[in-house]
Amino acid sequence: DKDPLIHGIQSKIRVVPNFPKPGIMFQDITTLLLDPKAFKDTIDLFVERYKGKNISVVAGIEARGFIFGPPIALEIGAKFVPLRKPKKLPGKVISEEYVLEYGKDCLEMHVGAVEPGERALVVDDLIATGGTLCAAMQLLGYLRT
Ligand code: PRP
Repeated sequence: DKDPLIHGIQSKIRVVPNFPKPGIMFQDITTLLLDPKAFKDTIDLFVERYKGKNISVVAGIEARGFIFGPPIALEIGAKFVPLRKPKKLPGKVISEEYVLEYGKDCLEMHVGAVEPGERALVVDDLIATGGTLCAAMQLLGYLRT
């Protein structure tokens, strides 16, 4: 009884068992991108949900938030801000470390890319532990620890 649109999108996401490590069921969105209708349906879903909601910034998480974020940003009339892995951005940055299953990673954002009072939409392909999303929220000033 799933929405046929959602079902169509889901059917295009390839699940690859044991990639990149044993026990992981990798959700591969590259197969979705090969289907222009499914890709557009995905973007439209988010555009319909977030258009007219006073969102002025779409923040895309490296790497797959760079695929889905910009078309959503253009359609809802927001700017696009990349949240990048360390040492990729040339300007002054703020950094947020987060814990992975094994070890640590970090996201960075250019200082001044987002102004106080702006309303942001964070875009990525998926949430697993939520650590990456929490780091993004910290960078955008939505969480305080
Ligand atoms: C994947 C995915 C999310 C994150 C989710 O990225 O695209 O960004 O993991 O996991 P979490 O909820 O446990 O934090 P990945 O670490 O593979 O980095 P990449 O996009 O640079 O390949």
